Amino acid sequence: MSKDVVERFREADLTFGVIGLGYVGLPLAVEAARSGIRVLGFDLKESVVSGIRGGRSHIQDLSDDDIAEQVGAGRLDATVDMARLSECDGISICVPTPLSKTRDPDISFIFSAAEAVSRALRPGQLVVLESTTYPGTTREVVLPELEKRGLRVGTDFYLCFSPERVDPGNRVWQTRNTPKVLGGITPTCTGVGLALYSRFFDILVPVASTEAAELTKILENTFRAVNIGLVNEVALIADRLKVDVWEVIEAAATKPFGFMKFTPGPGLGGHCIPVDPHYLSWKMRTLNYKTRFIDVASEINSHMPEFVVGKVWEALNRARKAVNGSEILVLGVAYKPDIDDVRESPALDIIRLLEASGAKVDYHDPFVPRLEEDGREWLSVPLTDDVLGSVDVAVIVTDHSSVDHARVFEKAPIVVDSRNATRGLASPLSHGRQEGWIVKGPGL
Ligand SMILES: NC(=O)c1ccc[n+]([C@@H]2O[C@H](COP(=O)([O-])OP(=O)(O)OC[C@H]3O[C@@H](n4cnc5c(N)ncnc54)[C@H](O)[C@@H]3O)[C@@H](O)[C@H]2O)c1
Repeated sequence: MSKDVVERFREADLTFGVIGLGYVGLPLAVEAARSGIRVLGFDLKESVVSGIRGGRSHIQDLSDDDIAEQVGAGRLDATVDMARLSECDGISICVPTPLSKTRDPDISFIFSAAEAVSRALRPGQLVVLESTTYPGTTREVVLPELEKRGLRVGTDFYLCFSPERVDPGNRVWQTRNTPKVLGGITPTCTGVGLALYSRFFDILVPVASTEAAELTKILENTFRAVNIGLVNEVALIADRLKVDVWEVIEAAATKPFGFMKFTPGPGLGGHCIPVDPHYLSWKMRTLNYKTRFIDVASEINSHMPEFVVGKVWEALNRARKAVNGSEILVLGVAYKPDIDDVRESPALDIIRLLEASGAKVDYHDPFVPRLEEDGREWLSVPLTDDVLGSVDVAVIVTDHSSVDHARVFEKAPIVVDSRNATRGLASPLSHGRQEGWIVKGPGL
């Protein structure tokens, strides 16, 4: 391994490029800039670039001051001009990896970013793919694109995969202090990648290949998807047994070893957990292998919005009412508490299903003032006593900490709670037995 190149990436004055300035790319760019490196961010969206250049943040985890401080110090700049990738010594690719309509991987963003890097590639550059994707993408998709013009990996340029582990809204584990896994195409690639990343990550975890790094990320997210699937199935079981699932989980969680707590809810959301395991399923189908755990978990998790709507139906039925014509207030549309991200949020399915049955649906979410879906627009309604008193049902879908769930419980005539946000308020039906989910309404 060339010591010079590793030393250059560890210590020299460098320019670091970040392609895709979203939830993942922008925190990475800011962290690198904080370490004193000059950072040039790239995005296709003019509005994103001009916002950053003007010292404004468009993501919740960074404030305007965080951006303005780095821009003002001359360490952070942004552009839509992909030709400027040639100015960068290291380049990280943080573009989206969604699913297509048929739920297959859509790696078109990775591909177009790789094409842009390829056009600008010059000897000595390091390229790191950060976007979550199936094992093999870096070697089979990115590498051929970069070698197209005759430069060779491991000698002329360096290529790694290093999965992003951003947890939006997490105040403890942020970009710098979250250990960072990284694997290169060759050992020199890994050495160069570690050298650059050691400047703005506290703990690095090298693995033997890009495939190992790619699979590590999908294991982490599949672990969550499968365990959430398991606990959601336990919730369905407990519902039939009329046992309070949350009480059971709390009791199990007192075991000091061998148990990890997951909680049930209205279904999976966000850009990662519902999406990433399908990248692995797809890849394994091409190798004639069926990923059974992923498929079962996905089936259970994607059924949860229907289960919640079934509870609304059941609660209204007890009040001799129909879903058709009822006014329903959905509380929380972001996919998890205290963030503003609605991507893949189960609340969207719940709203769709309720409206399809003729309900009039409003929502309240302090983090999402406006919601656009299927070409329609909703505005968050204020959470007043009048609103709560006038609806037929309040459904707690996401339990933001600033929402007064005790007041919701007190004022709304029927409450369906998919997050146990009203814990302690509903009284058990009889000793040790409780309906769960429908926490307030006729007969309770
Ligand atoms: N959001 C998370 O919590 C999270 C956590 C871990 C990993 N990831 C992964 O990180 C990747 C990025 O996710 P994100 O949430 O930051 O996405 P995002 O949608 O917030 O941001 C992506 C940005 O990339 C830009 N972009 C798209 N194609 C481009 C191109 N060819 N050139 C330049 N810019 C381009 C978009 O305009 C957008 O601003 C995904 O693979 C995701 O799975 C996300």
